[in-house]
Amino acid sequence: MKNELKDRIKIIDNALEKFLPEKDNSQSVIYRAMRYSVFAGGKRLRPILMTEVCRMCGGILDDVMPFACAMEMIHTYSLIHDDLPAMDNDDMRRGMPTNHIKFGEATAILAGDALLNKAFETVSEYGKDVPNAMRAISILALSSGTEGMIGGQVVDIESEGKDIDIDKLRYIHLLKTGAIIRSSCVVGAVVAGADDDEIKAVDEFASNLGVAFQIRDDILDVTGNAQELGKPIGSDEKSGKNTYVKLLGLEKSEELVEKYSKKAIDALCIFGERAEFLKRLTDYLINRSK
Ligand code: IPE
Ligand code: IPE
Ligand code: MG
Ligand code: MG
Ligand code: MG
Repeated sequence: MKNELKDRIKIIDNALEKFLPEKDNSQSVIYRAMRYSVFAGGKRLRPILMTEVCRMCGGILDDVMPFACAMEMIHTYSLIHDDLPAMDNDDMRRGMPTNHIKFGEATAILAGDALLNKAFETVSEYGKDVPNAMRAISILALSSGTEGMIGGQVVDIESEGKDIDIDKLRYIHLLKTGAIIRSSCVVGAVVAGADDDEIKAVDEFASNLGVAFQIRDDILDVTGNAQELGKPIGSDEKSGKNTYVKLLGLEKSEELVEKYSKKAIDALCIFGERAEFLKRLTDYLINRSK
């Protein structure tokens, strides 16, 4: 799996390089700041999911690539802002000093904003003639907005230092992390022209994968290795975050990663053998250490 992922990361990075070139003008610092975080590394999980779902549903890689890269830009912007002193206040990301440590807070805020704009610039320029382009663009926008990732981040921040129940925590995870993982998968299906049943199955897969992924992230914040993870451990406790580990303990959290991952895999049954890679990827993510 590791080598397969490496190959896919290379393809996505080449496309990102095309959509996000260096620029040498009086604004060059913003391009450097954007590229710094995008090319710092990262698993490229969301574009890998989107391109693979598209393939599984019979779509064309070149069609989906602008959307996959746009999603990685949106995800990277969310990380730059998530790390800011006003939010999680972290100083390492993807194995490097965070954007605001390297470029200062003002530039980091602007780099995040710029990546969000660049994402929609990319899809409207390079994705406009792709099947179902407007529907795909709208899904990207909704999932990263107030009813999606931003909504989840708001409730996550609001809940710091407070006691919340597991339903509210699941809601936070579904939004702050699940929304973008869901839309990555659904956009892949929509661009491929998948039918409603297929889209529903992909959505069910991704919702469960998203929650499992964030529970694993919560676990790694306690048990992980900062060097391997590329970001600090203990960040959640330091900020008084509500996490699965805090509410349910490590053992129960591990069980839930398994449970949601299994539900994710089960949702793929209508695709038969075509879902083989996504099933293996889900299994791989259950035990990830970064
Ligand atoms: C980090 O996402 C933020 C979460 C939603 C947990 P990833 O773990 O996918 O981060 P990168 O893209 O690999 O850096
Ligand atoms: C991140 O959740 C979710 C988003 C960035 C939208 P976390 O705050 O747990 O992510 P990490 O641990 O900093 O990567
Ligand atoms: Mg956070
Ligand atoms: Mg964080
Ligand atoms: Mg975390």
